[in-house]
Amino acid sequence: MNVLILGSGGREHALAHKIAQSKHCSKIFVAPGNAGTQKFAQNIDLNVNDFEAVKKIVLAEEIEMLVVGPEDPLVNGIQDFFTQDKSLSHIHLIGPSKEGAKLEGSKERAKEFMKTHQIPTAAYQSFNPSQVKEGQAFLDSLKPPYVLKADGLAAGKGVLIIDDIQEAKLALDEMLTQQKFGEASSKVVIEEFLDGIELSVFVLTDGKNYKTLPTAKDYKRIGEGDTGLNTGGMGAISPVPFANEAFMKHIEKDIVQPTINGLQKENIDYKGFVFIGLMKVGNQAKVIEYNVRMGDPETEVVIPRIQSDLLEALTHLKKQELNQVDFQLKEETATTLMLVSGGYPEAYEKGKKISGLDLVEQDAQVFHAGTKFENNEVLTNGGRVLAITAFGENFQEALKVSYKYAKMIDFEGKYYRTDLGKDLENYSN
Ligand code: AMP
Ligand code: GLY
Repeated sequence: MNVLILGSGGREHALAHKIAQSKHCSKIFVAPGNAGTQKFAQNIDLNVNDFEAVKKIVLAEEIEMLVVGPEDPLVNGIQDFFTQDKSLSHIHLIGPSKEGAKLEGSKERAKEFMKTHQIPTAAYQSFNPSQVKEGQAFLDSLKPPYVLKADGLAAGKGVLIIDDIQEAKLALDEMLTQQKFGEASSKVVIEEFLDGIELSVFVLTDGKNYKTLPTAKDYKRIGEGDTGLNTGGMGAISPVPFANEAFMKHIEKDIVQPTINGLQKENIDYKGFVFIGLMKVGNQAKVIEYNVRMGDPETEVVIPRIQSDLLEALTHLKKQELNQVDFQLKEETATTLMLVSGGYPEAYEKGKKISGLDLVEQDAQVFHAGTKFENNEVLTNGGRVLAITAFGENFQEALKVSYKYAKMIDFEGKYYRTDLGKDLENYSN
């Protein structure tokens, strides 16, 4: 079958790379893609939120499966657009309906869903612009630090964690009455701070059945020791060494199953990936957030650890027959390290020539995040540039390989964190 993947990052490169290996894949397209996907797929330049443009390509290229990488088209209703159009309703669309995508598109909706289905999460209340005083009183009832979340999508920037009560009250006022995060903060969720260590669990579901994908831990901040500004992600490790069998059983029983059952009970059309962000507090996992797509850079370690044919599994979602698929994971550990442009996540330059990509051997796989191919050269084209994925018996061994290539691959302004895995040294896998 012909497959189209929407998106342009390392996530989409990793998905395309895996799907292209399937015996069921005839031709693969990535829109808009990058220099990495261009090597084996056909890139198509389009805006992923222009559903008419997507439709045109799907029909012209006889696409049978559409894998939606990023969240915006899902939150904007691309799945509903496809199911409601007779000429498109036969397509396998991988991603939830607009209703399902609210689990990521609205923090308040996600919290209500968790409350309804008794899924462990931080205590919370939500407030609108006429409730600033009530919100500030709620802050007074909590212990610091204070967690304030813009309800809507805010490109990963809508969460504030503030130590000082006066600052928190002011921030709440700015979010609600001055729309600090635009329309996204016209509602604000205030929640209890969870003190623990984070991990993510990924699930593929047809809305009824599910397969658990590998766990991962990502490194969000730009600086060593997880300091400085938030980024899209500076690296990731899978599996998470502290997610042992007993802990995973607890997550499956208390979080994954109630989530999938909740989707079914609420009649939500959800055929795609669920990314569950968790905090391990003591021995308990609590949900921080749902994302309705794969994570980036988590995908660059999660997908390479799938042994089975992913495309085959994806073809079983439409008829809710995922239970008929044999789905195996690999034992080995995968790590990925992001090389980013100097200045990122603030202003940075693009168009720098990348060298050393040809030095990468069998022991690693480089997924392109922000690159383009121009005049026979691979150039930087984003803040996050390349994800160097490597494998090993444990994360220490895999990281050695990721770091070996981080030194060999070069471009002007290259930066990467050198402390991946340091926080996990007390855990073995
Ligand atoms: P989110 O966009 O909901 O994933 O939040 C961004 C980041 O803020 C998370 O990855 C956590 O590191 C942190 N965070 C969110 N909610 C909480 C919470 N209730 N307690 C502690 N940290 C949190
Ligand atoms: N790495 C976090 C995300 O994809 O949202």
